[in-house]
Amino acid sequence: MSEEVTYADLKFPDSLKTENIEAFENFEIKETPVTSDVSHHRVLALTVLCSLLLIGLGILGSMFYVTSKKQMEKLDELQNVNEELQGNLSQLLMDNMNNSMKINNLSHTLQEITTKFCHELYRKNKDHKCKPCPEKWLWHENSCYLLTTTMKSWQESKMECSAQNASLLKINNKSISNYIKSKKLYNFWLGLSPRYSSMSDKNLDSLIDSPDWNINKTNKSNDKLYCGYLYGYNVYYSHCKTEIYSICMQLAGPVKIANTLSEVPDERA
Ligand SMILES: *[C@@H]1O[C@H](CO)[C@@H](O)[C@H](O)[C@H]1NC(C)=O
Ligand SMILES: *[C@@H]1O[C@H](CO)[C@@H](O)[C@H](O)[C@H]1NC(C)=O
Ligand SMILES: *[C@@H]1O[C@H](CO)[C@@H](O)[C@H](O)[C@H]1NC(C)=O
Ligand SMILES: *[C@@H]1O[C@H](CO)[C@@H](O)[C@H](O)[C@H]1NC(C)=O
Ligand SMILES: *[C@@H]1O[C@H](CO)[C@@H](O)[C@H](O)[C@H]1NC(C)=O
Ligand SMILES: *[C@@H]1O[C@H](CO)[C@@H](O)[C@H](O)[C@H]1NC(C)=O
Ligand SMILES: *[C@@H]1O[C@H](CO)[C@@H](O)[C@H](O)[C@H]1NC(C)=O
Repeated sequence: MSEEVTYADLKFPDSLKTENIEAFENFEIKETPVTSDVSHHRVLALTVLCSLLLIGLGILGSMFYVTSKKQMEKLDELQNVNEELQGNLSQLLMDNMNNSMKINNLSHTLQEITTKFCHELYRKNKDHKCKPCPEKWLWHENSCYLLTTTMKSWQESKMECSAQNASLLKINNKSISNYIKSKKLYNFWLGLSPRYSSMSDKNLDSLIDSPDWNINKTNKSNDKLYCGYLYGYNVYYSHCKTEIYSICMQLAGPVKIANTLSEVPDERA
């Protein structure tokens, strides 16, 4: 470009007189340099544009790089938070499980304490409302016992017990054997299987864990069968038609905490 300018400057002093023509000529001659000038400008502009574009692209690229790097960092951060949250969540679930286990254990312990306390109250007052057995039934350990007051045949007694969700008494451990013996009961039907023949009397304790308690189904009518009954410490067999008392037993329900602790305020007063 500077070359062109000097060329024009040089021409000017040479043809001062024929300024007009020169000017015209110059104009004419200059036509080609002018067009080359324009294309040079265009090239320049294009170059500048291209460079600008390149720079822009570069900036964009670096911006993209920076932002994507930032995004990656954010993603990593989020991933970490996610992992932490999952960790915290499983921790919470663990704590929750432990807590519900503790609550279960506590309520189990509370139930045991309540039952023991209710046993104490029952020892002093056989009709205490904390007793987990129906009215008139006796409570021992976790079972309830009813001594019937009307005399019936063994079959009828059996039906009477099952009508109350109970069964004729079976002795399956020393504790219940001792409890029943302490009651000194005479002529009470037991839940022994009816037999085809009578047999000599047996001590109640000798029948613990005996298969005689498994009641066999039989087609024989009652009057041909012999049934076992309690007589003090012993067991005898008699015709099943005989009418005597009986002992029913059923599992005790859970001791109600409210019924047991209703005593406490009275004792504090
Ligand atoms: C995870 O729990 C810890 C403490 O137990 C707490 O400091 C942290 O903020 C928790 N993380 C999230 C993501 O909540
Ligand atoms: C849950 O309880 C067990 C023992 O009962 C204990 O070893 C464990 O650390 C407890 N976990 C939490 C998260 O408290
Ligand atoms: C709950 O009791 C059981 C045994 O009865 C025990 O194995 C368990 O660790 C107890 N759990 C808690 C949380 O105390
Ligand atoms: C003995 O048997 C009775 C009746 O089945 C039951 O309620 C009681 O829990 C038992 N006692 C023991 C110590 O096993
Ligand atoms: C016997 O138990 C059944 C359900 O098991 C109950 O519906 C019924 O009321 C009970 N009967 C007595 C007399 O307790
Ligand atoms: C019940 O039947 C079994 C075999 O069926 C027998 O071994 C057992 O002695 C019977 N029990 C009584 C009390 O008859
Ligand atoms: C009981 O008697 C019926 C018919 O009255 C018979 O079908 C059944 O087999 C008998 N059961 C036994 C155990 O004898």
